[in-house]
This record gives sequence, structure tokens and C-alpha cells, in this order.
Amino acid sequence: MKHLLSVNDLGADGIEEVLRLTDSFVEVSARSIPKVPALRGKTIVWLFYEDSTRTRLSFETAAKRLSADTMNFSVSTSSVKKGESLRDTVETIEAMGIDALVVRHASAGVPWQISQWVDAAVVNAGDGWHEHPTQALLDCYTIRQRRQSLHGLRIAIVGDVKHSRVARSDVLAFTALGAEVTLVAPPTLLPPSLEGWPVDVTSDLDAVLPKADVVYLLRMQKERQHESLLPSLREYTALWGLTRDRARLLADDAIVMHPGPMNRGVEIAAEVADLPNAVITQQVANGVAVRMAVLYLLLGSGAELVA
Ligand code: NCD
Repeated sequence: MKHLLSVNDLGADGIEEVLRLTDSFVEVSARSIPKVPALRGKTIVWLFYEDSTRTRLSFETAAKRLSADTMNFSVSTSSVKKGESLRDTVETIEAMGIDALVVRHASAGVPWQISQWVDAAVVNAGDGWHEHPTQALLDCYTIRQRRQSLHGLRIAIVGDVKHSRVARSDVLAFTALGAEVTLVAPPTLLPPSLEGWPVDVTSDLDAVLPKADVVYLLRMQKERQHESLLPSLREYTALWGLTRDRARLLADDAIVMHPGPMNRGVEIAAEVADLPNAVITQQVANGVAVRMAVLYLLLGSGAELVA
């Protein structure tokens, strides 16, 4: 595998390989000096055209733990402000001699486009409404920590599916590993067509919760909603928010997930996010080891992963 642009670049076997490798990096991360020389001499550039907290910091931490060198490209202080094109920007960065570009962009397909222009490995860290493959991998890993396997699990993905790259990548990854996925949303927050999506769809959250093994809340992506898709956020919360009352419908061992950043009080009640069944912080923690695994797969060579 040269790039990671979509969950489909991995398939079920590739996902399993990343998850297996992640176990080793969880072990590395638990050491008193959580660092291995696996990517010494490699240079990784962060090309983030969109805001990020978790994804950027966990990629950065992952790269440091693998001893790679990193360069940060800050759009707001770069020549992008002078009108430099994406292609010229990328070719300029590559001319410095780099090994990987980790890209986040508001438009779907930009990481793929960049991969056509450069020799470096390209990792998609979120492209528009399209995909966010490393989020899906860390979500699979987090579920596997609580339940040995995703096979046969019933996973409800709830909320703003239409604007969510996380939902697209999660559907691909969860179903590749054998889970049954149900999308729960008001019709206005579903994509215009779900043809070919291997999922069930409903707008009735209360009916789904008692049977769910995992309930995955999506952020209400207000910044991507250019038209009025909901009467009000209050109404959304009343029908599709995981309120405290509604959380009582869940089985005792059901898992509550959210990719962050959360709108506490909108898609998830503040106190529900802090219940023992909520693994939201665990998702963030696993993000580091999963991204170590991805960077290692793309840039490392097997022999270098030694104690
Ligand atoms: C998500 C993103 O930016 O795609 N956040 C993340 O990476 N964990 C989800 C979101 O913004 O809602």
C-alpha cells in the first residue's frame, strides 16, 4: 500500500493488519520512554487546510514516537495567502525531500489529487464530507478493546450522516469487519442517495437503542450546513440526541462513541459523555497508536520494529 486515502485501500485484511500492528504500538506507548527508531530519517509534513485538534496532535505524537522528523504547514501564514495554488504548494513542499504528506482539506478528493502529483506517501486526514480513514481505524480498535470482534455487532450511527466523513469511513470499516450498521437520522441529514451502502436506515432512535451494541453519535456539523435542515437544535436533541433518559434504553454493556469535537447538550448530553460506557477519551488515546501503525505501514520496513 502506497497511500491511505480511503478505508477501501485496506479492505478487511488491511484493517486487521493495522489493528494487529496497533497492539505493538500501544505497548510502545506504555513504556517509560515511548519511542522507537522505526522512522528515523523520514520526514512527514502536515498539510491541514481545515481545523483540527485530535487528528493533528495525534498524528504529530505518533510521528514523534516513531522518531520521524515533522514539518508543519500552516495555511494561514503560508503563501497560500498570496494565492499560490494547491499544486504549486505541494510541489514546493515535495522539492524539500519528504516522505509523507498528511492532508486535511474541506474538499472531497484533494488527498487523492495530491497523490497523483507527488512521489511521497499521502494519508487522508479528512477530506470534506468524503472520508476519514484513520478515524475509522481507531474506532474499530476501540470497539475491539471492549468486544473481541466486530463480527455480528449491531452498530447505530446517529446524526448528521450527510456531512460526515467519519460516518462514510466507519460504515466501510465496520461492515468490512462483519458488523451490522444502522444509520439513524432525520431524512434531511441523510445523503441524497444511499444506494450501495450496506446499511439499514431509520429515523427512530428509541427503537434502535435497546438492541444496539454500539451507539456512535456524530457531531452536528453546523459549519457544513448551508441550508436549513432542521427546525431547531432543540428539536434535534429531543428526537435524536442521546439524552440521559434515552441512554437508559441502552443495554448495560452497550458502548457510547463520538469522534469529537462534541457539542455537549446537542447530540449527546453532557453527563452521558462521561458515563463508564462512553469510550470517547479512549478513542482519542487509541488514535495515537493507530496512526503510528499507519505511518509505520506506509513508511517503515518490517525489520526496524524491534524493541
Ligand atoms: C471529525 C472530523 O473533523 O472529521 N473530528 C475528528 O477528526 N475526530 C469529526 C467532526 O468534525 O465532527
